[in-house]
Amino acid sequence: LPLAIYSDRANSRGVEFGDRLQLASLVAGMERSAGTVEAGPLAPGLKPGGPAQEVRSPSDPSKIVGTVRFTDPKDVDKAVTTALQGFKSWSRADPDARAAALVRAADLIEDRRDRFMALLSTEAGKTLDDGIAEIREAVDFLRYYAARSRQMFGAMQPMPGPTGEDNRLGWRGRGVFVCISPWNFPMAIFLGQVSAALAAGNTVIAKPAEQTPLIAHEVINLLHEAGVPKDVLLCLPGEGDVGAALTSHPKIGGVAFTGSTETARAINRTLAAKDGPIVPFIAETGGLNAMIVDATALAEQVADDVVMSAFRSAGQRCSALRLLFVQEDVADQMIEMIEGAARELKLGDPSQPSTDIGPVIDQDQRDMLAAHVTTISKSQKLVYAGSAPNEGLFFAPHIVELKDAAALDREIFGPILHVVRYKAKKFDSVLDAIDATGFGLTLGVHSRIEATVRKVIDRLDTGNVYVNRNIIGAVVGTQPFGGSGLSGTGFKAGGPHYLMRFAVEQAVSVNT
Ligand code: SER
Repeated sequence: LPLAIYSDRANSRGVEFGDRLQLASLVAGMERSAGTVEAGPLAPGLKPGGPAQEVRSPSDPSKIVGTVRFTDPKDVDKAVTTALQGFKSWSRADPDARAAALVRAADLIEDRRDRFMALLSTEAGKTLDDGIAEIREAVDFLRYYAARSRQMFGAMQPMPGPTGEDNRLGWRGRGVFVCISPWNFPMAIFLGQVSAALAAGNTVIAKPAEQTPLIAHEVINLLHEAGVPKDVLLCLPGEGDVGAALTSHPKIGGVAFTGSTETARAINRTLAAKDGPIVPFIAETGGLNAMIVDATALAEQVADDVVMSAFRSAGQRCSALRLLFVQEDVADQMIEMIEGAARELKLGDPSQPSTDIGPVIDQDQRDMLAAHVTTISKSQKLVYAGSAPNEGLFFAPHIVELKDAAALDREIFGPILHVVRYKAKKFDSVLDAIDATGFGLTLGVHSRIEATVRKVIDRLDTGNVYVNRNIIGAVVGTQPFGGSGLSGTGFKAGGPHYLMRFAVEQAVSVNT
């Protein structure tokens, strides 16, 4: 398989922009490509949806990015009927033709990257680094799943058997897949789910996050233009009621969901209670992600990697660092360096090249983060509180030192780093504390002692372990991404097994 097809540089390392001219032309292109979007249900024969609601930019709420009409949950049944009809032809189509449509979509996205950069910046508040990385990841998903589906679905695999019998094993799609995606990667995760389901021969009903329906609308239109039929790929923007109508529908073939653990639990219960076939549930949820730094770690590297992992993307990545364990001998020095690096970060207009951190997604998120800082500061030590612009939905980086890791009992989705000191002889208790969170998404280790690194990897089941580097920005095909326990079901997105959950096997034995 081609690896990291479009990510010529690992997106975890940020974007090296080359010369300033290129950057200036990117920003100019984004400005030219800006323009409002009118989104609504994309499903043959469906009503245009409810009243048009304004979608405003989180960095500047006076800016209207477009409008969206949410789907009436009563229309879900009609959409499922359409997608079931589409499944008859798409599931039996030549796998090469399905893959080719996805590759065409990847080409179209590359051609229109200015437009998607503009939308990522205005609708989702993405900085230039994050926008470029997200477009690369979206394109990688399309190309990777297209390549993988050609291998899996191209020809049935011969199986051993007695003379006179021809045995073969093949894969095919499951039916109508419901893809429910989050606002923090409104293009990459959205397209990752949709493209995997399509590549595996399913038809798809996508339900994008209510905060980011416009990017989703453009992406679905682009996939239609690339050759995916309209009765094969439908998009139903809406709130939780639309998601609930979809997941409880008796005729769906499976659900792919990325979002909170709480919502994943609710969907799991709905699927268990509903009539119809027993369908797979692919969930990628949160993390209480930790990094362990011992006294042998390189301080400058740690400061860089911690700031990147905890604060970049305003901490709004499921992979982001939440809990930093530092060996007490070096803790004062490390915390001082991290705080110093955090002070240098510039918050502001995400479309500006000098901006490091853009806004959080909405007022609810900002209120939740502020409330967390107020509450936790009463019992723990607030080490650093950055300052944020007054206009727009910004939340500055914060550092809180905890007496004990147990003081943080849930994922806080934003730029708040929690630090815990540990004694070298109590190293095992750090591993126990990480295990006790129940999450298992990303984990970092900074140590130059091989035995320490080995012990951490052996003891913990965390899905993605990063050694002596930051813990964000998994690259498709290189670092298959996803966790276990409270963090998700697997298989890993961007990995060789992901498509298997979207498909069923068929064994055929012919008496020759
Ligand atoms: N895949 C993303 C990352 O690795 C998820 O947030 O950062």
